[in-house]
Order: sequence, then structure tokens, then C-alpha cells
Amino acid sequence: MITEGKARIEIPEKVFYNPRMKFCRDADMEVFRRLESRSYLDALAASGVRGIRAHLEAGFENVEFNDISKRACETIERNLRLNGIDALVYNRDASALMREKSYHHIDIDPFGSPSEFIDSASKSALRFLSITATDTSALCGSSPMSGLRKYGAYAEKTEYYHETGLRMLIGKIVREMTKYDKYPEVLISWTKEHYYRVHMRLRKSSRGAGKVYEKVGYILHCQKCMRREWKNVFHTPEIFCECGTEYRMYGPLWLGELHDREFVSSLSKDGETGRLFQRIEEEIPAITHYEIHEVCRSLKISPPPIADVINALRDAGYAASRTRFSGTSFKTDADIHEIRRIISDISPQHRVSHRP
Ligand SMILES: C[S@@+](CC[C@H](N)C(=O)[O-])C[C@H]1O[C@@H](n2cnc3c(N)ncnc32)[C@H](O)[C@@H]1O
Ligand SMILES: [Zn+2]
Repeated sequence: MITEGKARIEIPEKVFYNPRMKFCRDADMEVFRRLESRSYLDALAASGVRGIRAHLEAGFENVEFNDISKRACETIERNLRLNGIDALVYNRDASALMREKSYHHIDIDPFGSPSEFIDSASKSALRFLSITATDTSALCGSSPMSGLRKYGAYAEKTEYYHETGLRMLIGKIVREMTKYDKYPEVLISWTKEHYYRVHMRLRKSSRGAGKVYEKVGYILHCQKCMRREWKNVFHTPEIFCECGTEYRMYGPLWLGELHDREFVSSLSKDGETGRLFQRIEEEIPAITHYEIHEVCRSLKISPPPIADVINALRDAGYAASRTRFSGTSFKTDADIHEIRRIISDISPQHRVSHRP
């Protein structure tokens, strides 16, 4: 017997439960408390822990559960009784169920890739869609062929690979959804350990579903000088970087917002999940980010504190912030030449001395 949040859960053998995902479910509950979710499907429910918590902690009145495993369904039924909840439990393939039935809010939490469920979830979900992905190497560019197979997008590993992962996942969701004349607005997204998580509000409009492609496109990345550019699908990108190197081209990816600032500002900043929300709220909406170590390696200096870098960029008139992705990375609207100049200027004492 496990207690997680307000839920008491029994997990028999062969039914999935990952205690390391508690942080994610805690964060989800804080997010869910701000949503008016009239019917919620925990589509890959396993023990049912997420849907049960959504009912107990976020006040979701109408929760339903589904899992393809019979044993999981029996477990969900038992856990519902344990928590005094009366709810429907389906023993179906999630895609088949979502084809037949619409929900205000769909939650997809699979083993590995959610890609096979995105089409049906996009059709079924009316107002909110929450998706987890744990196939991080496909999404972040460390396994480009997996990215192509699962998400129809190409990327390679860069210093901002976690951001690439979120942008590839959201980009795929957009491209699956617009055929239903819907498009998503990202409420919040994050990555931690081995997973990506995104919560979206959906809009219904054929015009909007076309216009959303202004925020879908390609990141052009120079492996030599670290410059990046981006172009949406309506524009033909430059093939060469200013430095003369041929760009690497990654995408199609989501080039829009990774969170809604107003939404994130409404979330509690208490505790461990609050620290993540705080970091997200402070992050500027720049595309890609820089790892201080990578920039300093190319300058052959030792890295100054991240706070000094951000202050120096701001003093020079640029927008700059830390990021949700790591404690040693920053976002800015300055280009790579300015970043290099500013970082080498701020702290000459950090220069590695080169003795003759
Ligand atoms: C990662 S677990 C879900 C964990 C759960 N949401 C939690 O928070 O603990 C994935 C679940 O999806 C189920 N599953 C796999 N393929 C499915 C499908 N096509 N339709 C419905 N359920 C499926 C598995 O049986 C498994 O219980
Ligand atoms: Zn270059």
C-alpha cells in the first residue's frame, strides 16, 4: 500500500507504478487545479494513481480510466474502492476508445513514445490535452532516426537538446491536431530526468489551425560558431551561416511558446514543484539556449557564474534569463557574437592564462 498525495494505492506485481514520477504527478495536480476539466480520461492509467489524484486533489468530478491490461483494470477498480471513488474503467486500446468517445481533457502517459496515441487523442480531446513522453533520445536528437520514425522530425544532439525535445513533441502534436481544425496553446511544459511533459489548452478554428504553422518550422544550427536561426514553414531558410559553414537544419519543430506566462504565474511557487514553476515563469521566450560551459570552452576561458552572465547581457541591453532546462544555461536575444564579446568582457579574471 502506497500513499501518494491524497491517494492510497495498491500496486500488485506486473502493474506499472514509478515512484520517481511522483514529482510529475505533484506538478500535474497544481496545473490541474487551475483547469476546469469537465471530463477527464486517464487513457493509460496503470494503477489509476493520476486520475485518482486528479479527482481527490484537483476536484475533477468526472474522471474515467482506461488500460489495455486486464490486471491494470482490476487494480484501478480496487484502488477506486479504496479511495471511495465511483468511476468508469475501460479495458480497451486507448486509441480505439478515443476514436469513439470525446473528453474535455485527455491524459496520455505511455511507456516510451506517445506518438501512436497523438492522432486519436487530438480527435477526442475537446479542451485540454496532457502528454508525457519518455523516449527522450528520439526527441532530443541523440537518436535522429528514432526522431524521424516516431515524430517525423530531424534533429541532432546540441547543447539545447532538452528544448529540442519539447519542441519536437509539441510540433508533432500540432501537426496531428490541425487536421481536426484544432490547435493547441501550450500552458506549461518541462523536462526532468527521463521524461518530457506538456499540458495544452485546445482551440477549435480552421483559420487558427492554419495560422498556427507560423510557429512551426526549422532551427538552423551552425556547428562551427554556435549561431542559430529559425524559420517557419512559410520561409525558405538560408543554407549557410555567416561564418561560411553549412547550417544543420532541425525540424519541423514547434517554434512557439513553451509556456503561457499568465498561466504559470497563477501556479503555486511553494516546494519543489514551485521552484520549477518559478524558473519557467522567469524564462524569456527565446528559441534555443546556451550552456555557459560550451560558450566558455569555445572562448578558452573558465565559466563565470551564470548570474554574472545574465546581468552582463541585461546591462548591455539584451533580454536574458536562466532556463528550465539546467542550472548552467541561459536564454537571450543577443546573437552569438554579442554573447561571446559580453562573456569575455565581464570577467577577465576568469580567463585561462596561456603561458608561453
Ligand atoms: C507508463 S504506464 C502508465 C502509468 C500511470 N499513468 C501512472 O501515472 O502511474 C503505461 C500503461 O499503458 C498501458 N498501455 C499500453 N498500451 C496501451 C494501449 N494501446 N491502450 C491502453 N493502454 C495501454 C500499459 O498497460 C500501462 O499500464
Ligand atoms: Zn557559423
